[in-house]
Amino acid sequence: MTKRVLLTGATGLIGRGVWAELRNHHEVVLTSRTSSDLPINQFVPFDFGRTELIQDFLDKARPSIIVHTAAMTSIEEVFNNPRDAKRLNVDAVSEIALWCEKNGSRLIHFSSDFVFDGERTDYNEADLTNPLSSYGRTKLESEKVVQLNLRNHLIIRPILVYGYFENLTRMNFPLLIASKLGSGERMSITEDQIRMPTHISDITEVIRKALFSNDRGILHLSGPEALSVYEFALKVAESFQLDANLLIPVKTKVDNVSENRPLKSGFDLERAKRIFDYHPKSIEEGLRLFPI
Ligand SMILES: NC(=O)c1ccc[n+]([C@@H]2O[C@H](COP(=O)([O-])OP(=O)(O)OC[C@H]3O[C@@H](n4cnc5c(N)ncnc54)[C@H](OP(=O)(O)O)[C@@H]3O)[C@@H](O)[C@H]2O)c1
Repeated sequence: MTKRVLLTGATGLIGRGVWAELRNHHEVVLTSRTSSDLPINQFVPFDFGRTELIQDFLDKARPSIIVHTAAMTSIEEVFNNPRDAKRLNVDAVSEIALWCEKNGSRLIHFSSDFVFDGERTDYNEADLTNPLSSYGRTKLESEKVVQLNLRNHLIIRPILVYGYFENLTRMNFPLLIASKLGSGERMSITEDQIRMPTHISDITEVIRKALFSNDRGILHLSGPEALSVYEFALKVAESFQLDANLLIPVKTKVDNVSENRPLKSGFDLERAKRIFDYHPKSIEEGLRLFPI
């Protein structure tokens, strides 16, 4: 088997970042359901919700390594479509892990910081999980099916990833702020949700190093700074020279009915530093990489 990488979710934020990082160095097969702009000789459309077809799809693609970023990523969509969410976020991952174990391939799978309950900003990889949302529960289940079915795996949990690529299917935080403030709209932003935002390039550098390494298990990746979402928005406004007065700080409404986001989310990055010499960019550095 040649060392071929299969990148799922190739049109998403993390997928586009991984593709940009690997495209000049590795043979990469790209997949998502639809794509208008990825090279047609490298792109194979596939719906991972069709779990009964996954073994056959992978038999044809025959990757040595799978970087699996495809998922239902919206909290609201997962809550409103629990069956589809389980198929894509859990059952498909199980099928991929089973195929990898049978064929001696490595899986780099993306989970989420939302497996935690938002009490702290220094969670390490061994800390107890306790997801608050259906989305977080599917991501935790996805970790379990990988751990159960496949030895050669790396599970990455990132936090609030941001970055710029052309043709992104959904906006990430700085782009959303730029779009609203740029057109003079006021925006309410939570001042009590704490995050450690991650620039996409810090994740993709680790992926490149992790492709052929023997490192296994769970890996926490985030930026170096914990700050409120409101403070992050202020930094975006300053960096992009937008009117910060349009940002209105508000408190999060926490209830038992809707899907709650963790109030705090942050990581202890010691494992990433030790294994991958991980030195993530400050938010100012990350924002300077936007072509705005
Ligand atoms: N971005 C973050 O801040 C963040 C934070 C924590 C964890 N994560 C995790 O990181 C991973 C990647 O996130 P992202 O932000 O890059 O996601 P994204 O921008 O929402 O992209 C999702 C990708 O999955 C593909 N996809 C969706 N449904 C599919 C299906 N049924 N079959 C095949 N492909 C499908 C989408 O393409 P099509 O719609 O064209 O199929 C798209 O390429 C996810 O597992 C997410 O849970 C992300």
